Amino acid sequence: MRRPFAARDRASSVSRRGLFGLGAVSAAGVAVAAGGAAARADGSAGDASDLSARLAFGGSGGTGFASGVVPFTGPHQAGIATPVQDRMHTAAFDLTTTDRVAVIRLLKDWTAAAARMTAGHGVGEGPIPIVAASPPDDTGEAIGLPASRLTLTVGFGPGLFEKDGADRFGLRAQRPAALIDLPHFAGDSLDPARCGGDLVVQACADDPQVAVHAIRNLARIGFGTVSVRWSQLGFGKTSSTTPAEQTPRNLFGFKDGTENIAGTEHDLLDRHVWVSGAEGPAWLAGGTFVVMRRIAMRIETWDRSPLTEQELIVGRTKGEGAPLGGGVAERDKVDVAKLPADSHVALVHPDANGGHRILRRGYSFVDGSDGLGRLDAGLFFVAFVRDPRTQYVPLQSKIARNDAMSEYLVHTGSGLWAVPPGVTGDGYWGQALLEG
Ligand code: HEM
Repeated sequence: MRRPFAARDRASSVSRRGLFGLGAVSAAGVAVAAGGAAARADGSAGDASDLSARLAFGGSGGTGFASGVVPFTGPHQAGIATPVQDRMHTAAFDLTTTDRVAVIRLLKDWTAAAARMTAGHGVGEGPIPIVAASPPDDTGEAIGLPASRLTLTVGFGPGLFEKDGADRFGLRAQRPAALIDLPHFAGDSLDPARCGGDLVVQACADDPQVAVHAIRNLARIGFGTVSVRWSQLGFGKTSSTTPAEQTPRNLFGFKDGTENIAGTEHDLLDRHVWVSGAEGPAWLAGGTFVVMRRIAMRIETWDRSPLTEQELIVGRTKGEGAPLGGGVAERDKVDVAKLPADSHVALVHPDANGGHRILRRGYSFVDGSDGLGRLDAGLFFVAFVRDPRTQYVPLQSKIARNDAMSEYLVHTGSGLWAVPPGVTGDGYWGQALLEG
């Protein structure tokens, strides 16, 4: 058996990594822990408590761990109205336990870890603890990286409330009426392995390594209680919640997110996104619902379509993003009556849907190629809505039946989750549900 790696041994091995980010800080911190002389990374003198505190922080290594921190606590979870980050890693999990206490423990542990990671810190004692006899609390690949505006957003799927007819955790009566099993839509080609999940966690960050690190560490914490059902990486935001910034483009090359709800439009968020106390259940007040659809885009076929046809399909110009039918600028008013009836915008615009709106927050993906010479590329569609029955299902039904764009789209993954409100004080994700 290998002997435990003593702190002094690690001090020398870490310091051999030279000036690699936190390495220098950690080495100094370990020296303190081992009783050696202390020095700050900047060369000035430090004390033991200062250094051991920094040792516990995965992302605190001199690269400005405090930069880009999105507050974790608040009435709503972060990662919804938050300005959209550049990267996403989302994972759905299945609960492998029937023990409610284990679910509570998991959500407490996840909340604690999420609070630390979103602040740019390592999980628990961090990636390089003083005692090395057991695996570190944190996997380490975010050492030296700043918080990168990381947000972690959790959702509860139908399976948390009821699975195969069983009320596994005594939560059946708490299932929101709007947390439906999504219907089959025309043209769906869903892969069950990419659908559903008892829990979902969306990690968004400006650095993909930070997002992946967060999901990996939550999966690690959940070992024995949850297993990863599917996960999806996204690289290019296809929506914006900050209209003042340039609108991003999707893989069809069109601006996407022009008419999205902005994170600062609190009246619209209240009307279309946040569940109020009045509609219930009580535990969901301040929360929302999230729909996720993995939509493969037949980009090779699209690329062979004339520009005019592409614009008629979307209902907007490709360069400027102006609405067809007379618009010249991106934000010119859309007149649905002047758009081709089967164009995407004509079908999904609020004027054609009783004023209903959704908050889109999707990402592009390319998951290699399909073996037939085509890229497995598309849009990981993410939408936050107050009631999926009135805001998502009618839209998707129309798109599936009538949208000219559907010819280029194949829906391969799907899920709907109730998103609990944010965490305040010492609370944890879903506390009002599990202790209500
Ligand atoms: C790969 C699939 C999709 C692509 C490429 C796509 C593309 C676009 C584009 C280019 C726009 C116009 C720019 C904008 O206003 O943001 C748009 C708008 C919109 N899309 Fe999609 N979309 C897709 C899927 C969906 C789905 C599945 C839904 C909902 C079920 C949806 C709902 C909307 C809505 C509500 C708007 C705003 C319409 C407006 O207010 O004018 N989209 N989409």
